[in-house]
Amino acid sequence: MDHFEYRDGQLWCEGVNLDDLLDSVGTPAYVYSRRTFEDHYDRLAQAFAELDPLICYSIKSCGNVNICKLLANRGAGMDVVSGGELYRAQQAGVPMAKAVYAGVGKTDQEIRQAIDAKIGWFNIESEAEFENIAAIAKRMDAKANAALRVNPDVDPKTHAKTTTGKKETKFGVDIERAHRFFEAYGKDPHLKLNAIHLHIGSPVYSPQPYVEAIRKALDMIAKLRDKGYEINTLDIGGGFGADYESGQTPPFADYAKQIVPLLKPFKEQGGGVILEPGRSVAANAGVLLTRVQYIKTGGSKKFVIIDSGMHHLIRPTLYDSFHFIWPTRVAPMHQPPQGQRSEKIDLPGLETCDVVGPICESGDYLAKGRALPPVTRGQALAVFSAGAYGMVMASHYNAYPKPPEVLIEGKKATVIRRRETYEDLVEPELHPQPV
Ligand code: LLP
Repeated sequence: MDHFEYRDGQLWCEGVNLDDLLDSVGTPAYVYSRRTFEDHYDRLAQAFAELDPLICYSIKSCGNVNICKLLANRGAGMDVVSGGELYRAQQAGVPMAKAVYAGVGKTDQEIRQAIDAKIGWFNIESEAEFENIAAIAKRMDAKANAALRVNPDVDPKTHAKTTTGKKETKFGVDIERAHRFFEAYGKDPHLKLNAIHLHIGSPVYSPQPYVEAIRKALDMIAKLRDKGYEINTLDIGGGFGADYESGQTPPFADYAKQIVPLLKPFKEQGGGVILEPGRSVAANAGVLLTRVQYIKTGGSKKFVIIDSGMHHLIRPTLYDSFHFIWPTRVAPMHQPPQGQRSEKIDLPGLETCDVVGPICESGDYLAKGRALPPVTRGQALAVFSAGAYGMVMASHYNAYPKPPEVLIEGKKATVIRRRETYEDLVEPELHPQPV
């Protein structure tokens, strides 16, 4: 469910006609719906309410400070993976006690920054990292909490590049090693190892891998408690799916139906539960708007060349991912029936095309072999489900300034990140300094 919909052939976001918006902001542009962000967040919170979880929004999915702020106002904590994301969370006014800090390569400087900020938990990925953070905390005469990231060896059945919970990934430690980890570090006075962190992959389109992972984690927690270790928090990570195609993802309630009963006894014994959603909140809260520059045929192929591409949305190139693409204004016969977004949309008069960008790489495409209504030069297209891992993964490749981000709230539109300029591109290079 989101708030992007066609009315009489025109795409609207909440109360804003997106073609009217483009007259002012131009293309390419990311456009977000506040109501969608909030609805997704609220539905998730509601589905898991019995566990009263701390919901740490995963900043890496869509990190604009203004978006973080509106989720923080809803009560969200944040999941950060770098000093930069930590800084974003602070700028958004997130209480740092509600933040978790994951990532395999935290630097000493980032660790000191997080200790100073009194971060809620460090999510620990290796023995070497634990020793380093504990030593830094000792030198700073500080105390911090740590969650051990455990790799439960379950297959989340997702893309190889986003699978994290199997044994042979760089993330976390396996269950056997986790027991030895607690024996070695479980009584550290400065870095209190009192939580377990899981994150099995992303996107995970069924509750089953979570059930498997959580069962293994709870069993491990029971054994560790028997050995006298206090474990008061279980962070089950992120990874819930998003509807890139209509109906692709179970609703939050379906995940919760299987996960909540498993975790209820843990909760009733005083345990805290953390969730780290990113995509499920952000993906369908954003679209990337772009304009057709040229139409070109090559052999039997038709190319729709647009003013955006892999430099603004790299997911199709990197993960072969599907993003529904459709003109923002269409003849009534081409309005997607019941708002359906799907690769195989069944309407008369569609043409098969590749939607490609201006970058000098043959990997620069947003869709291949896609059925689209006939489009012409100058027409605006919406690339749907681009709110998560869109703008945050954008680059300056081929020296394109990054697009603006616009937040829609009812009838109001606000530029929450201005369009970059050529000056922005070269500014850090203008003052060479001898080292
Ligand atoms: N927690 C941890 C420890 C993570 O590594 C991630 C995502 C999340 C939470 C949030 O997962 P989500 O709820 O968004 O699925 N760039 C890829 C996705 C990479 C995900 C990395 N970790 C994509 O565009 O599909």
